[in-house]
Amino acid sequence: MGTIGILVDAKVFRNIKNGKTGREKLGHYNKAASKHGLTLAYMCLERISLSTGKAHGYKVVNGKYVYKQFSIPKVIHNRTLPSSNSLHKRLKHLSQKYYVFNARNRFPKFRIHRLLKIRFASHLPVTTRYSRVHLRNMMNRFNSLYIKPQSGSIGKGIIKITRKGDERWKVQLPTTTVVTSRKRAELKVNNNVKRRSYLIQQTIPLATYKGNPYDIRVSIQRDLNGKWRLTGLYGKIARKGSHVTNVARGGTAKKCDLLFQSSFQNPSQVVDDVQRLSLDIARFLGNRLKHLADVGLDIGVNRSGKPFFIEMNGRDQRYGFIKAKMPKTFYRTYESPILYAKYVMQSGKK
Ligand SMILES: Nc1ncnc2c1ncn2[C@@H]1O[C@H](COP(=O)(O)OP(=O)(O)OP(=O)(O)O)[C@@H](O)[C@H]1O
Ligand SMILES: [Mg+2]
Repeated sequence: MGTIGILVDAKVFRNIKNGKTGREKLGHYNKAASKHGLTLAYMCLERISLSTGKAHGYKVVNGKYVYKQFSIPKVIHNRTLPSSNSLHKRLKHLSQKYYVFNARNRFPKFRIHRLLKIRFASHLPVTTRYSRVHLRNMMNRFNSLYIKPQSGSIGKGIIKITRKGDERWKVQLPTTTVVTSRKRAELKVNNNVKRRSYLIQQTIPLATYKGNPYDIRVSIQRDLNGKWRLTGLYGKIARKGSHVTNVARGGTAKKCDLLFQSSFQNPSQVVDDVQRLSLDIARFLGNRLKHLADVGLDIGVNRSGKPFFIEMNGRDQRYGFIKAKMPKTFYRTYESPILYAKYVMQSGKK
């Protein structure tokens, strides 16, 4: 019987015993591991020693968590996003010695865009790095733009601007919306970006549900045969007046069938197209980014049903499947990484 390591944030780790692990439903990992004859060892970066190869953490024994010291398992599923440079380094070192899949789970958006452009240009909104000159040029070319942080999170700091007349622009900031002159709009955007790293992106005219735009979260993971497989997808609908669909920003989650039936004549064709594009993108990125095995893609569908890539998440917040009332798919998002870990162990990959 093999042991798989699951690397979690310190906050999740602290709450393992009392079961209050928030949106991380560790019970699903435990269920999957016991079903497939594996043992789990929960760890956090703060309690591993790379020099001795030992960790203090929780093993699941007869359905109970037991805190103990153990050897760091060879195969580790990463679910942590290091909060400091030193933890970041530690994770990097860990992944040089052990097979840590999704060790790197955050990439600058522009880097992913440039990679994907090689093959998927027609499914990408026009995108540039942020600068005042680029902003001016993009405002000349397009009537609506998104300006977003390179390594943003859950819709934070995202700005949308939309032309309202010859020289008027609507500016939607995270908490306020104004309509103003073009000059002032440029200034407002610039003041919000400050010196941080941002990009500018053409707006995808997203399909709407009851008047609110939505996009799609697609979970794609490697499983028992090491191949990428689509685990499931759901729609995220923006809160009224909001320019982001993130569930953490008041968006709601619903099944795609319901959304596509209300938006399109040929809903099943749209589902097929979204699925095919997502799988192609995951395979493509999987061949270029080391040990990637679990991604959540944000795919926008325009009003004619054409899918566009918005972004890739390396630590997918799977909880949306619960909000969309898809508990079985939610479970499978936990089972697939366990199966992939089993595959890595059996195939003796390095
Ligand atoms: N080019 C675009 N056209 C239309 N809508 C967009 C565009 N870019 C972003 N959005 C909207 O904003 C939301 C958030 O953008 P995005 O997913 O790029 O960043 P994020 O969720 O903050 O990043 P992360 O997932 O890394 O935390 C998207 O889900 C989508 O609703
Ligand atoms: Mg997103």
